[in-house]
Amino acid sequence: MPATSRTRPAVTLRQLTPHDRTAVVSFYQGLSERSLSLRFGSATVGHVHLEQLTKVDGQDHVAWGAFRGGVLVGTGRFVRFQPGGATVDVALTVADVYQRQGLGQLLLERLARVAGAQGVEWFSFTVLGDNHRMQRLLERHGVWLRFEAGLGEALVPAAHFLGGPMAPQ
Ligand SMILES: CC(C)(COP(=O)(O)OP(=O)(O)OC[C@H]1O[C@@H](n2cnc3c(N)ncnc32)[C@H](O)[C@@H]1OP(=O)(O)O)[C@@H](O)C(=O)NCCC(=O)NCCS
Repeated sequence: MPATSRTRPAVTLRQLTPHDRTAVVSFYQGLSERSLSLRFGSATVGHVHLEQLTKVDGQDHVAWGAFRGGVLVGTGRFVRFQPGGATVDVALTVADVYQRQGLGQLLLERLARVAGAQGVEWFSFTVLGDNHRMQRLLERHGVWLRFEAGLGEALVPAAHFLGGPMAPQ
């Protein structure tokens, strides 16, 4: 189905706080093994890792959530490599039933919008070689990953994503 025939579901975007712990845990626990593998490199996400994902501080670890009917259906987060540093690791995750409906793109744009105000200049992406959907999302922005040992990496100015994706060829 061509992307142009689909409509992005209406969601509310807001920054996540530690008070969203229950929603965040449910969200990750509800992902398919495939999505978990693509996001974390493992079909399960352990308790310690889940705790880390809930420990957002709004400075060095920033997460935004897409909510639909009060339910968390997608997250976009960035984590600074150094406290207060200008380069962050970016990760997007969308609930399985909402994938391929534009939410990943929406969350990436939101992260780009808040980055500048928070002193973030560079987005770093690390993507598994078989994560074609994430690769396509980046390619629509003209970003191609450099692959080594099955991992693709890219370092891109955060502001690059403010312009939205390129028109399909
Ligand atoms: C990778 C991931 C975050 C992408 O998010 P997503 O919401 O599925 O991505 P989008 O919907 O924005 O883009 C995917 C497709 O939807 C289409 N699309 C984008 N915006 C759209 C819109 N407004 N309306 C309709 N379709 C749209 C795109 O053309 C794209 O099509 P393609 O897959 O054929 O290229 C998501 O699939 C996911 O969570 N995967 C599992 C975890 C993961 O891999 N995380 C990334 C780790 S680096």
